[in-house]
Amino acid sequence: MRAQIDSAGGLRHLVTLEGLSRETLLSLLDRAENYRRIPGQPAYEGRELAGVTVSNLFFEPSTRTRASFDLAARRLGAHVLNMDMQSSSRVKGETMLDTVYTLEAMNTDVFVIRDTEAGLPEFLIDHVAPHVSVISAGEAHCSHPTQGLLDVLTIRTHKRRFEGLKVVIVGDIRHSRVARSTAQALTTLGVTDLRLVGPESLLPDENEFRGAQRFTRIEDGLADADVVMMLRIQKERMAVDASLDDAAYFRDFGLTPARLRLAAPNAIVMHPGPMNRGIEIDSRVADGPQSVIREQVNNGVAVRMAVLAAIAATLTRHRLPL
Ligand code: NCD
Repeated sequence: MRAQIDSAGGLRHLVTLEGLSRETLLSLLDRAENYRRIPGQPAYEGRELAGVTVSNLFFEPSTRTRASFDLAARRLGAHVLNMDMQSSSRVKGETMLDTVYTLEAMNTDVFVIRDTEAGLPEFLIDHVAPHVSVISAGEAHCSHPTQGLLDVLTIRTHKRRFEGLKVVIVGDIRHSRVARSTAQALTTLGVTDLRLVGPESLLPDENEFRGAQRFTRIEDGLADADVVMMLRIQKERMAVDASLDDAAYFRDFGLTPARLRLAAPNAIVMHPGPMNRGIEIDSRVADGPQSVIREQVNNGVAVRMAVLAAIAATLTRHRLPL
């Protein structure tokens, strides 16, 4: 795969957080803080993406990620094309690459792409023109870099530090691109106490998430945690026979107010969405005082603005002269 960082140190593409330096991550978080506006404040409006065309290609359903990439690009002045790839020419037999070349011919500068299968973002990085950038908006179970960034931004806002934090991720970690990207970012930023909780069948392989502790009892993983991150059970990524009983899952792993009391008193509760209320999380927790779930959504727009702006700044070095 071509490098995500260009020779001058600028962000060129973003398909994984793996290998990105602490400095790169922190500068994206700082940039995002500058763009962040809480609901009720006027949204940031800028021209950082003036003259830039962003094409969003989503081969998989998405609410938060898609809406926030769209808003992020528009608030920075981009032209935005939202392609619903479930009804696009791919269904008519056009190859993915032909679709991309078609949109490149219409002066697309940045492709934002989500796919159910692994490998497409990396493949595109190797095939797009030298002045075009690729951002992953979720790649199979492998990677979801902007979600990882918005998660660590949310944690930094509340905890002001990464060193010494106890972070627990609970749920379907095996199928979660969110857990992979967020864990990579946390590790790079200095978190050493990372715990993974779930039934054996939903924990990742031993060679993944190196350094993390694994628990099959939620009570053990929650003890004194500063950050509790709940994940959705992703039935669409499981083999049909891996059907889980929702009530039994809630009984064994659901985050209830009583269980949350095992964590540190000021622990924050996170969830990337979409939530299955009553399966992985009790509504009293999801809507309770420790929940930062809607702040994550707010940070998602700011982080996507930061990534797009960083890439647009790099792009100016790679574009053709008039
Ligand atoms: C997640 C995703 O699609 O990877 N959602 C999101 O992007 N906010 C998590 C999920 O689908 O459970």
